[in-house]
Amino acid sequence: MTDTASAAPHLAVAPPLRADAPWLAPLAGYSDLPFRLLCREHGAAACCTEMVSAKGLLYHSPGTRELLATTPPDAPLEDAPLVLQLFGADAAIMRTVMPGLLEQGFRWFDLNMGCSVPKVVKTGCGSAMSRDMDNALAVARAMIEVAGEGRVGFKMRLGWQAGEETWREMALRLQDAGAGWITLHPRFARQGFGGEARWSALRDLVAALSIPAIASGDLFTAADAVRCVRETGVATVMFARGAMNNPAIFDEYRVLLAGGQPPPPDADRLRALIRRHLELALAHSGERTAMLKMRTFVPRYVRHIPGVRALRNRLASCLDRALLEELLETHLTPQAFAEGGDSADTITTVSNGESRP
Ligand SMILES: Cc1cc2nc3c(=O)[nH]c(=O)nc-3n(C[C@H](O)[C@H](O)[C@H](O)COP(=O)(O)O)c2cc1C
Repeated sequence: MTDTASAAPHLAVAPPLRADAPWLAPLAGYSDLPFRLLCREHGAAACCTEMVSAKGLLYHSPGTRELLATTPPDAPLEDAPLVLQLFGADAAIMRTVMPGLLEQGFRWFDLNMGCSVPKVVKTGCGSAMSRDMDNALAVARAMIEVAGEGRVGFKMRLGWQAGEETWREMALRLQDAGAGWITLHPRFARQGFGGEARWSALRDLVAALSIPAIASGDLFTAADAVRCVRETGVATVMFARGAMNNPAIFDEYRVLLAGGQPPPPDADRLRALIRRHLELALAHSGERTAMLKMRTFVPRYVRHIPGVRALRNRLASCLDRALLEELLETHLTPQAFAEGGDSADTITTVSNGESRP
């Protein structure tokens, strides 16, 4: 292995595992470079990439390589600490692709053992790995052998379905194999996002492990996350849908955890946040791609604003940054905030994303 860490020093930075250092979860279609940078500016202490297919890396799929995009070493905004999430159920493929990732400077990894999307599960990847623990361990060992002990985390669910509760045995075996941390989204794969995340399993996980446990699942607000840390004793939390709705959730969580009171929502701050997201998206892609991305994020950011329906309708066909600016000026006003929320207008269109792991 060639050590190119000096060519990408930011990738060597270790992700912190402390309660006051919240992580951005791996989010397919969302945790891309611009969104990670935005979340970092709002207090995310570590970020995960979107899940990257090991097979896609093996076959040099261009779409897969794009997911590896990170900041150049001399960029003013460092994309660090960064955890590269992989999915794959073939230990030989993992062993083949991992050295190339190390050559590119990646040092911290995660294996997706929680995704329940049919396309992923039917190839034996994601949450299907809970049904063949020996194979899962072989894949884990392949990653750890190349990356080193303590450098790979594993993100899992409770198991495949009620009656197949595999998380404890899986976590203990992964710990023995040299895992750096375990993230648990305490739902069964078959539940998708239904029901409630069973946080009591997080407490049991913390008690069972000597390595850090990270919480995922139903962390929609800063207050949820503070409660989760206090109730379960996890090392830290990973925001997923909570960050997709509000990238400022990381700062809010840090303030709340330290005993402070985060500021209430504010039109000027939200406008500035959306403008900054657009600026970051434009810095890393063309205007059309950037605007398509903004069309997936902005409806989430503004969903509690009364004028949101008109804004969302117009956003749906907006590929022009000037028009987005105009829409923000017209609809995201202090008056709109002062009038209060419109619960009837919450997001429903992204439900296919939420049927994910
Ligand atoms: C749109 C979307 C994409 C996701 N993509 C991934 C992924 O690539 N890898 C992964 O391990 N989990 C993925 N997840 C699961 C989240 O990381 C997280 O575990 C889950 O959303 C539970 O946390 P929450 O209830 O706080 O949102 C995804 C979730 C959503 C909603």
